Formats: sequence, structure tokens, C-alpha cells
Amino acid sequence: MKILAIMGSPRKGNSYKLTRLIEDRLKTKGEIDFEYLFLKDTELANCIGCHLCVQRGEEFCPLHDDRDHILKRMEEADGVIFVSPVYMFTITALMKNFVDHLAFLVHRPIFFQKPAMIFIHRGDMFQESIKYMARVARSWGFSVVARLGIPDPDDMTPQSREKSIRKLEKETDKFFRALESGKLPAPSLYDLLGFRVWKINALALKKDFPADYQYWKEHKLFDKDYYYDAPINPLKKVIARLLEPLVRMFMRRTFQGY
Ligand SMILES: Cc1cc2nc3c(=O)[nH]c(=O)nc-3n(C[C@H](O)[C@H](O)[C@H](O)COP(=O)(O)O)c2cc1C
Repeated sequence: MKILAIMGSPRKGNSYKLTRLIEDRLKTKGEIDFEYLFLKDTELANCIGCHLCVQRGEEFCPLHDDRDHILKRMEEADGVIFVSPVYMFTITALMKNFVDHLAFLVHRPIFFQKPAMIFIHRGDMFQESIKYMARVARSWGFSVVARLGIPDPDDMTPQSREKSIRKLEKETDKFFRALESGKLPAPSLYDLLGFRVWKINALALKKDFPADYQYWKEHKLFDKDYYYDAPINPLKKVIARLLEPLVRMFMRRTFQGY
């Protein structure tokens, strides 16, 4: 199995040292090909906010940098670990710039049924940074099956150190089980409703966001309950269907263009 760790620190420092422990743990479990992608070594210019990727299609991004190479590596991996230390209460600027580069994926997600692990070094004290990164990965289609936030064990008392390592092992094992079994959480009601909101957008904003409409058409999503065939709880399916007209009505009353 191929695992890709996307590293958000501007140096090969503490978060790398801890990710090596995740790598070691995974390798005790099975045949693992573990790769690192250091964002600091990639060329990713700052997003200039032109919206072309979102509206017209990702191929229209004027930056012509390493984005597609990174995407390809994510696609080739069986599972992805997003790693960042906390810098000023949240993820690093490098990781945020990477996230912005892939903003079009929230409109047109592609990573369905791929497990992800979020590791925010020091995220134990900044839970919102873990939640944020998990939200990003989910919006791109990933199944976030493990979330880890620990400090540097070398800075800790033996007791706290032990606790952190146990946490790292527990979350790594969860990630491995999802990779091995292929058993991923079914879409929640939140996911099902999100799907319908994007459907309303794709139809209503067809002129301004032609790439979204094209994606929905190409993937034959307009008559579906979710992006892929998943074992959906029938009650949740019905609730999401019933709520769609109400959501549309709310959007018509609130925003232009619906
Ligand atoms: C610019 C900057 C801002 C930081 N902000 C925080 C912070 O808000 N909270 C925190 O606990 N640590 C903060 N740190 C400390 C780092 O999280 C810590 O040194 C971490 O081990 C760095 O990981 P790295 O070596 O992988 O970059 C900050 C470090 C830097 C350089």
C-alpha cells in the first residue's frame, strides 16, 4: 500500500520526526510504501484569487506550478496523511497555500473512498486546527479516519510522553485498519445535505460556474443521492431528499442568482 505524507512545515523538524514514528508504526503492520511530499520543496506560488480554477476549470489556473504533480501523487496514493505543526494557533502558511491551490476540489471533489489521517503537531492544544484540516480533506472527498494532535514527546514528562505515543499508535492503527479493510464510514446526513447544496449550486449557477455544471453532468450526479454508490441509511436519504427544496427556497431568498 502506498501512503503519501504531505508535510506542511518549512523545515524537516519536529513534525517530520513524529511522522517518522507514524511511518515506523505502519510498517510494523503491513507492506507499506511510505512517501513524503515536502511542500517546502515544491513550487507553489501564492494563490492570486482569480477564481478561474473554481469557475472555469482547474486547467485555467494561471500559475502553472507543481499543483498537478502534487495532485497526481495524491491520486496515486492509497491513503494520505496531512501533516502540519501549529504556527500561530493554526496550520502553517505553506499548508494553507496548498489548501488554497486545491480550492476547486471543494466544488468538484475527487478523492472519494480514500482514507486520510490528519496529524497536527501541537494540535492537542489547538483542536480547531485539526478540525479545520479534517474539514478540508472531507470537502475534497477523503474519508478522514484518524486525527492526531500531539506535542513533541521529547519536551514532555515520561508519563505524558507515554500517553502521546499511545495516542499516535492508536490513530495510526485506525488509519491502517481503514486502508487494509477498505471499510470507510458511510456518508453522514451532513454529507448528503452538502451534496444537495452543491447540486443546487451547479444548476443555478451554471453560467458563472460552468466547470461545476460540467462535472455534475459528466459524473451523472443530478439524479443521485451521493457522489458514489455508498451504503446510505435509508432514513437519512429520505430526509436529505425532503430537505432539498427547502434548502433551495432558502438560497433563493438569501442569495442572488438562485
Ligand atoms: C512562526 C511560528 C509560530 C508558532 N506558533 C505556535 C503556536 O501558536 N502554538 C504552539 O504551540 N507552537 C507554536 N510554534 C511552535 C511550533 O509548533 C513547534 O516549534 C513545532 O515543534 C515546529 O514543528 P516543525 O519543526 O515541524 O516546524 C510556532 C513556531 C513558529 C516558527
